[in-house]
Amino acid sequence: MLNIVIFGAPGSGKGTQSERLAARYGLLHISTGEVLREHIARRTKLGIIADSYISKGQLIPDDLMIKVLASVLDNEPTAAQSGVIFDGFPRTIPQAKALKLMMEEHNSKVHVVIGLEVDENCLMQRMLLRGQQEGRADDNEETIKQRLAVYHQQTSPLREYYIAEGKYCGIDANGSIDDIFARISRAIDALPNL
Ligand code: AP5
Ligand code: MG
Repeated sequence: MLNIVIFGAPGSGKGTQSERLAARYGLLHISTGEVLREHIARRTKLGIIADSYISKGQLIPDDLMIKVLASVLDNEPTAAQSGVIFDGFPRTIPQAKALKLMMEEHNSKVHVVIGLEVDENCLMQRMLLRGQQEGRADDNEETIKQRLAVYHQQTSPLREYYIAEGKYCGIDANGSIDDIFARISRAIDALPNL
């Protein structure tokens, strides 16, 4: 059983690599961004609140986001036992602490944090391209700049947090999608006791 957190800046490839890792290792892929975008599309109460933050490139407040993740996990009662890849959560230290407790409640834990490390100048280009191709609402220059600033202020400290926990595994996430996937897979296959 393997529970992974995939971690990295906006546009670093979390979603792209998570889909492949989920298929290769038989994991449930939980993307909090996708969960919120589904709520926005259905115009639920949560969706309306989430939209007001996402459209400004801000994070949804921790207390609300932690409840959202808890309810996703509660709806998938066997997931934490059979393997999950968390994409986009945690994004703050309080979220990381909450995830630890939630996994303990499910008699489980996060085994490894895969940190996708990408040259900053790539990120903007990737997201602007996706904005043109797929029309994701937060993929415009102004919102992307804000998302990157929020990442540096609020999310990047998690790298040190997980290094201190002995769980951080940094991956060079520049280059082709296939090469990056191969690097991540090699790192996972080399983990002890799996
Ligand atoms: P979320 O949906 O998680 O967005 P994000 O972190 O900004 O990251 P992206 O999804 O844009 O990028 P990614 O790393 O998944 O990369 P991808 O594979 O798509 O969150 C959106 C918003 O929701 C947040 O801003 C926040 O408001 C809210 N939110 C979500 N979770 C939250 C939480 N826990 N707490 C509070 N708020 C939360 O790749 C990007 C593009 O590049 C794609 O087009 C892809 O095809 C392309 N690409 C990928 N890899 C490569 C490669 N190697 N070479 C070339 N192109 C590539
Ligand atoms: Mg994503």
